[in-house]
Amino acid sequence: GPVVGIVPAAGRGVRLGEQRPKAFVELDGRTMLDRAVEAMLSSGAVDRVVVVVPPELASQGANDLVSSGFAERVAVVPGGSERADSVRAGLVAAAGARFVLVHDAARSLTPPELFARVVEALRAGRRAVIPVLPVADTIKAVDAAGIVTGTPDRASLRAVQTPQGFDAELLARANLDAGDATDDAGLVERLGEHVYTVAGDPLAFKITTPLDLTLARALLAVGRP
Ligand code: CTP
Ligand code: MG
Repeated sequence: GPVVGIVPAAGRGVRLGEQRPKAFVELDGRTMLDRAVEAMLSSGAVDRVVVVVPPELASQGANDLVSSGFAERVAVVPGGSERADSVRAGLVAAAGARFVLVHDAARSLTPPELFARVVEALRAGRRAVIPVLPVADTIKAVDAAGIVTGTPDRASLRAVQTPQGFDAELLARANLDAGDATDDAGLVERLGEHVYTVAGDPLAFKITTPLDLTLARALLAVGRP
């Protein structure tokens, strides 16, 4: 069966604070969503993509949302109020997939090679695969009053990115009971399944705040990526 990308792009972008939903903010003349979809499809590892957009924008066709040349492999569906609801809507439209890659539109500068790395691990038999990076900062656990309760060993911590890759049937089962989860792999962990890691990429950072947006635009201005 095919490898289908699901691109959650239905968030509001509250922390970014721009006028439009975050995935529709432009980086050097092209939307974050368009850039994320192009990276996915140009990787050669993904057959088709389902983009999940805010309901009021779902009447737009793929031709309006992504660059020509890719639109014929893209479907557009309306998302929900939480990210997991949007992923669920994407999964319905991805019916028939063997593997699914869930990838935030907000990780717009993700290099194509990262999609290939995740799919390679899936084809090698892993049923859940996530890209990770070492953590640069020391991380503290705190209580409700902000008092430190512990310092986990940084060497055993990883920061998690997307694309997160799954056996399609496994993710559909895990997502049924998602609540307000922000991490698809966490749902699979709850089922008692192993989640495997591959090396992430710094360029797959999530554009969340104005500082991230400045970084993304600066990278494009100097020709990287
Ligand atoms: N997302 C989604 N549906 C939602 C919420 C989020 O499809 N109901 C998507 C976003 O569009 C984004 C990805 O999930 O591509 C990661 O979410 P996040 O970075 O939190 O984006 P937003 O929810 O838009 O931002 P914020 O939380 O600051 O409002
Ligand atoms: Mg959010």
